[in-house]
Amino acid sequence: MLVRPALLPELPPSPKALFGREGPLAVEVGFGDGRFTALYAKAHPGRLILGAEVSAGSVQRALRRLRREGIGNVRLYLGEGGFALRNLVPERSILEVIVNFPDPWPKKRHQGRRLLREAFFRRLSTRLAQGGRLLLTTDHEEYFRFALEEAERTGLYRIETAPPPEAHLLTKYALKWREMGRPFFHAVFTKEAEDPHPWPPIRRYPMAHALLRGPLPEALALPQAPIRFPQGVALFLEVAKGERGFYVLTHVEEEDLTQDLLLEVRQSAHGLYAGVSRLGHPLITQGVKEAVKALVGALEGMGLEVVQDHT
Ligand SMILES: C[S@@+](CC[C@H](N)C(=O)[O-])C[C@H]1O[C@@H](n2cnc3c(N)ncnc32)[C@H](O)[C@@H]1O
Repeated sequence: MLVRPALLPELPPSPKALFGREGPLAVEVGFGDGRFTALYAKAHPGRLILGAEVSAGSVQRALRRLRREGIGNVRLYLGEGGFALRNLVPERSILEVIVNFPDPWPKKRHQGRRLLREAFFRRLSTRLAQGGRLLLTTDHEEYFRFALEEAERTGLYRIETAPPPEAHLLTKYALKWREMGRPFFHAVFTKEAEDPHPWPPIRRYPMAHALLRGPLPEALALPQAPIRFPQGVALFLEVAKGERGFYVLTHVEEEDLTQDLLLEVRQSAHGLYAGVSRLGHPLITQGVKEAVKALVGALEGMGLEVVQDHT
């Protein structure tokens, strides 16, 4: 039920690879506790529903709910909606995208964090099928107007406002706002044209490691400064010594993807291995490679010699 992108043989996977069968695709971004997802899945048993949510606690709760209710046509991804749309669904494949009560980020300086911005609508148009649509429901009038304007600016959508369908008013947040007597706003953005810029899936690599000649160092001191590269930033958070070597807790941020992963430095049959640990199945992206390069650079600075470089 939980999608682990690193374990998929290809990105994007076919709907059959993800769901075990073909069918019309729907995506819900920010599903919270999954209440709506479960209702939607039961109302549309023929559809294949992919949910994306950044909160791990919410994903746990939603998974429990879907299992309890025996729902089989939903897959959940723990991470950004943008990542799911870019990497987990084929181009021009989505019938419907649901966004219920997106975080409004009301402060002016936080508006860049809003999901429904022009760039998002443009990219979304490459993943929606012709006539596919996004359904937005919110209690936040200012964000609602903002989203309408951002979509309007793309010229790619027909936009209609209407009262929200009842099912969209049964989410956790809807019930909370209902009790407080807040108004609701709803819009349907139907794709009429497509942005000409393609949005290819993230590039991933089969490996990121190097083999070095020399003894395992006694201690490993790594740069504390962020490692910056064009697509993002990486940071060594902590180094721990184990029986076989060192483990380096590493944080990597790239567009729509944040990963905390372990790098390892340990003796192997072929020399000193410095690279990604399989633990947690990280996706080996450019950012992960940059972190490994920095690790290998630090080891070289300690006098070790690279004999094989797959970074
Ligand atoms: C206000 S809550 C609404 C939750 C649910 N839709 C409801 O109506 O009860 C917004 C949700 O969106 C999630 N979220 C925010 N930004 C996101 C993103 N870029 N991708 C996926 N989920 C996101 C948050 O973690 C949170 O659970």
